[in-house]
Amino acid sequence: MIASTPITIERTTTPKAKPPQDKLGFGIHFTDHMFIMNYSSEQGWHQARIVPYQPITLDPAAKVFHYGQTVFEGLKAYRTEDGRVQLFRPDMNMKRLIRSNDRMSIPPIPVELGIEAVKALTNIDQEWIPDGEGNSLYIRPFVIATEPLLGVHPSHEYQFIIIMSPVGAYYPEGINPVKIFVESRYVRAMIGGVGEAKTAGNYAAGLKAQEAANEKGYTQVLWLDGAEHKYIEEVGSMNVFFKIDGTVYTPSLNGSILDGITRNSTIQLLKHWNIPVEERVLSIEEIYEAGRNGKLEEAFGTGTAAVISPVGELNWLGEKLIINGGATGEVSEKLYTNLTGIQYGKQEDPFNWMVEVK
Ligand code: COI
Repeated sequence: MIASTPITIERTTTPKAKPPQDKLGFGIHFTDHMFIMNYSSEQGWHQARIVPYQPITLDPAAKVFHYGQTVFEGLKAYRTEDGRVQLFRPDMNMKRLIRSNDRMSIPPIPVELGIEAVKALTNIDQEWIPDGEGNSLYIRPFVIATEPLLGVHPSHEYQFIIIMSPVGAYYPEGINPVKIFVESRYVRAMIGGVGEAKTAGNYAAGLKAQEAANEKGYTQVLWLDGAEHKYIEEVGSMNVFFKIDGTVYTPSLNGSILDGITRNSTIQLLKHWNIPVEERVLSIEEIYEAGRNGKLEEAFGTGTAAVISPVGELNWLGEKLIINGGATGEVSEKLYTNLTGIQYGKQEDPFNWMVEVK
C-alpha cells in the first residue's frame, strides 16, 4: 500500500478462459483485471484501484481524442522455472514515463507508485503469465487526458491505466531475421519534437510508411533523421544496432530517438563482455558502404516487445542489402540468449535488473 494512495481491489467474479499458449500473438488477449488511478488539479493522483478488466467511459470532448495528450510504457513479467514472477527493470519504465509526461505536459507519476501499481496488478493476474519459450506477460501502463474541454491547453484531469496481455513473439517471423525498409519520404520525428517521448502520435505518424513497407514485403521501416534523411534513428518499434568490423554501433540519443530500456541493457551487456560498442551519429550511407565492402557483420533491433530481433535485409532507395546471408548473427544470438536467460531466471543477473513480484 502507498501511504497517501492505497490501492483498493475489486476482484472479477467472471474470470476469462486463458488463450492457448502456442498462439498468443501480441496484444490480442487481456487479463482479468486492470489498474486505474485518477488525477485532478485539486486532488493530484488519487483513487488508485484494481478492478475487473472493462471498457472505460469518456466524454467525447476528452482532450486525448482531440489533441493526443497521452503517453504509454511497455514492460514484461516473466515466470521463472522455479515458479517466481519477475519484472525486468520496471524503475526504468517509470522514470521514462515521467520524462514522456513532462514532454507532453502531463503531471508526473511518482516512480514508486507506478512500480507498486504494476506489482500489485501482476500479482493478482499472475496466473496469466504464459509458459512456453519466448512467452511473457506484456504490461502496458498509459496516461490519457480526460478533461472534456476543447481549448488547446494541458488537461486538468487524467487517468493512469495499466492493462496486461499474455504475449508471444512480436513479429510473425518469431526470432528469425526481419526485413526492414529504409524510409526516405516520410519522417518520424525532428530534433525538438516529441520523438523521445513514448507518445501515441509518434506511432500513428509511422503507420502510413509501415503500410507501404508491408505491401512491399518488409516488416518495418527504418527511420532516418527528419532534416536531411541521412542519419539512422530507429525502427518503428525498436532501436537498432549494426556490427561493423568487430564494433557494434547504435545511434546516439539525440532527442528524437526513444531511449530504449532493451537498448540500454544491450549496451551494458556488450560492455560486460568486452565487445566494443559505440553510440554515435550513423549515416545510412556508411552502413551501405560497410555492407558493400563486406564489413557489415550483423544488424539487430532491440525493444521490450521485439526483444532482440535480427535484421536480415535492408532496402534503401531500391538497393537491397542482405546482412550476414540473411541469417541471425553471433552477437544477436548471444544477446538474445543472455537477455532472455536473465529475464526468465535461467542465469545469473549480474546487474540486478530483475525485480521479484511477491
Ligand atoms: C515496446 O517494445 O514495449 C513498445 O512500446 C513497442 C510497441 C509499440 C509494440
